[in-house]
Amino acid sequence: MKKIYQYSQSRALFERARRVIPNGIPGHFNPAVQKPAGTYPYFVARAAGARFWDVDGNQFIDYMCGYGPMILGYDNPVVEEAVRAQVSRSDTCSLASPIMVELAEFLVDLIPMADWAYFAKNGADATNMAILIARAATGRRKVIAIEGGYHGSSPWMQAPGRTGITAEDHAEILRIPWNDLAALHGVLDEHQGEIAAFIASPYHHPVNQDNQLPADGYWQAVHKLLKQHGIVSICDDVRAGFRLDMRGSHEYFGYTPDLSCYCKAIANGYPISALVGIDSLRDTAAAIFQTGSFWFSAGPMAAALVCLQELQRLDAPTRILATGRKLLDGLVNIAREHGHELIVSGMPSMPYLRLAHEDGIGFHQALCGECTRRGVFLTSHHNLFISAAHSDADLQLTWDVFDDALASI
Ligand SMILES: Cc1ncc(COP(=O)(O)O)c(C=O)c1O
Repeated sequence: MKKIYQYSQSRALFERARRVIPNGIPGHFNPAVQKPAGTYPYFVARAAGARFWDVDGNQFIDYMCGYGPMILGYDNPVVEEAVRAQVSRSDTCSLASPIMVELAEFLVDLIPMADWAYFAKNGADATNMAILIARAATGRRKVIAIEGGYHGSSPWMQAPGRTGITAEDHAEILRIPWNDLAALHGVLDEHQGEIAAFIASPYHHPVNQDNQLPADGYWQAVHKLLKQHGIVSICDDVRAGFRLDMRGSHEYFGYTPDLSCYCKAIANGYPISALVGIDSLRDTAAAIFQTGSFWFSAGPMAAALVCLQELQRLDAPTRILATGRKLLDGLVNIAREHGHELIVSGMPSMPYLRLAHEDGIGFHQALCGECTRRGVFLTSHHNLFISAAHSDADLQLTWDVFDDALASI
């Protein structure tokens, strides 16, 4: 029997937060998202390697990795030293720093389709910039996106019907199902000459649903059509970037977009995103106006450069994919021993798990909650993330906890 965690300090802090912050904690981290109620902590005290400690002193193996940014392990010494060295010279200043040029050069060398790179803060900055460039380059307004695909919380991207979002925000967005070439043909026929861009992640990783890889030949067929219609192809690699292939996840699936967006794992947790593009879009990229108060901060750029170098040195995507496969094989076997089918979808470095059960998703939510209360932090609504810091010892502990949690429900 594993120790069951209590979260009294987290709960007390959340009550304080609610008085001064709408909803207490925004987004995914809100207690209302983490079900069943009471099985998750709300506030972290510190983090190192593949683990974090909450404000009650409970220790967790983290399979959410900050929802993606952590890839080398928290408090990675190489990244932290590079940031310290950079910010002791300059960080946010009145001018850009040389590290911005070094980082752009590195990305242009690393990613075969990239002829230039722009930097911002969040993933949504990069996807918004990509849409602006596509519209400016084509003189068209409409954008094809995938049903359930997520590209940030900008109004055009939010699910229709969400608070504060208007019908006009979605007027130019054409949603089609993933892997559906007939639907793509349909919107292309219906909106001849109106479509600026096709934006999609390299594989489909929606929340609360099994994830889906591209069908054989899907990306190649999509790109043939996009070329015929003069539509800009945008790869949203914000989530999968550097967990499949250092050269971009499009390389893993064998296609070449015109623009590609990165964020999350690019700097092991430091705030920076990147948009890279092909030469023929360089002048349009130069003509658009996009900036922000902290877009030139040099510390995150130094973090990104060494993070990418470390990932390359470790051949991290191969390693993380292998760790993911090993973890998942073990979990599937343990579930089977308990008489359950654990359904794994997506890529092993970012797997989406769902335990098939006659009670529906509630059983899987309970299982993830019970794992978390025993020190293995996983969520039920979102894909997990594996990092280069997850060790064999972490996997063994995870399997033990998973076994105990399954026995408990
Ligand atoms: C595929 C994808 N695109 C874009 C974004 C938006 O990134 P951010 O939240 O940093 O704006 C996310 C965030 O989860 C994402 O997963």
